[in-house]
Amino acid sequence: MLIRIIYLSTAVGPQTTTMTSAILKSAQTWNRANGITGVLCQGQGVFLQALEGERSAVTQLYSRIYADQRHTNVEMLHCESIVKRRYENWSMALVSLSDVDPATKIEWPEFDPYSATGMLVMARIDDLLATGSVIEGLSS
Ligand SMILES: Cc1cc2nc3c(=O)[nH]c(=O)nc-3n(C[C@H](O)[C@H](O)[C@H](O)COP(=O)(O)O)c2cc1C
Repeated sequence: MLIRIIYLSTAVGPQTTTMTSAILKSAQTWNRANGITGVLCQGQGVFLQALEGERSAVTQLYSRIYADQRHTNVEMLHCESIVKRRYENWSMALVSLSDVDPATKIEWPEFDPYSATGMLVMARIDDLLATGSVIEGLSS
């Protein structure tokens, strides 16, 4: 059974390109080997990630990510079973949430991403993908 989840977390420390590269390196091996597709949005002090795949694989990966010390306050925003993947072309697409560029700066309700609903967040992620905001990523 396929599922998609979306979670939100707060970065511990600065979100450097070194950190992003290390995350993508893990994803490159594990996600491809385990049929995971998705999108990682990072910036503005937060991570937002959509993960799709077999329920057992997504659950296993989420537990590992949840325990990762590079972020905290990990909250599940959305979880659904799916028949078709939304991010099928990406083992992990990377989108930068800019503090300055209005095109990629997400204005959260009352400026708090933790108050946004999962559906709103998924819509914003899709907007970012549709407007070509993927800065790099791993094709599936
Ligand atoms: C925001 C964030 C997103 C991550 N996304 C993935 C991912 O998609 N795939 C993956 O294998 N690891 C991902 N990781 C890394 C895992 O948390 C973990 O460090 C990695 O899988 C290695 O786990 P291990 O040290 O237990 O072997 C992510 C980490 C963070 C902080």
